[in-house]
Amino acid sequence: MESMKRIPHHVAIIMDGNGRWAKSHGKERYEGHIEGVQSVRECIKAASRYGVRYLTLYAFSTENWGRPQEEVDALMELFCKSVMAETPELVAQGVQVRFIGRRDRFSEKVCEHLTRIESDTAAGQTLTLVLAFDYSSRDEITAAVRALAQRVAKGELQPEEIDEPMIARSLYTADIPDPDFIIRTSGECRLSNFLLWQASYAEMYFPTTMWPDFRQDEFFEAMEVFAQRDRRYGKL
Ligand code: FPP
Repeated sequence: MESMKRIPHHVAIIMDGNGRWAKSHGKERYEGHIEGVQSVRECIKAASRYGVRYLTLYAFSTENWGRPQEEVDALMELFCKSVMAETPELVAQGVQVRFIGRRDRFSEKVCEHLTRIESDTAAGQTLTLVLAFDYSSRDEITAAVRALAQRVAKGELQPEEIDEPMIARSLYTADIPDPDFIIRTSGECRLSNFLLWQASYAEMYFPTTMWPDFRQDEFFEAMEVFAQRDRRYGKL
């Protein structure tokens, strides 16, 4: 019965394979990213329809700065343009957009876009779309540890008071529940510095589909895979 289905509260996706998709279609890498935007659109709609409450997408990792400057610039532009252009539709769908990651390495213009998108969609109640942008998990954990160490140095905090909930509250994802289900497209079976702390009890799924081909049907198929999993959280 549809209503008895186990629905993941939070789905996180590593969108991989844009470059390989482009190559296999005789296109430039950039065209793979453009095609990937359509998959982003479809997965947002599909997640809302299915009843998922949080959808996190790994859009740009701290390591992605190491790509050729031309690709980095193209990704920044595509990213800002497409999210800005989609904002009215996201608002209409009740989607709230949040960004996680560093904010200190973007141009002023990109930072302004991020702040504007967050404020324009702040009232969304149906789905929280978390975009990991200049994000890496080790970087996030390092920043959290540094902030706690500074509070200890100032005498505001005792080392014994540091526990798991306090560390969790010090991450970018402080008020976001842990992901239940992590999907990485393109057949690669790694987390690549994505939500390492938060992924502790997440189910994982590694379909071989390249991200530009991961559309609504593939998203629903992934939800079926999750529904079949038996989660025990270390218990019997
Ligand atoms: C990985 O494919 C994908 C990315 C680094 C970028 C993802 C960005 C988008 C889908 C476009 C915009 C996103 C939003 C949220 C509007 P890859 O280039 O690493 O592919 P490869 O491993 O085949 O080379």
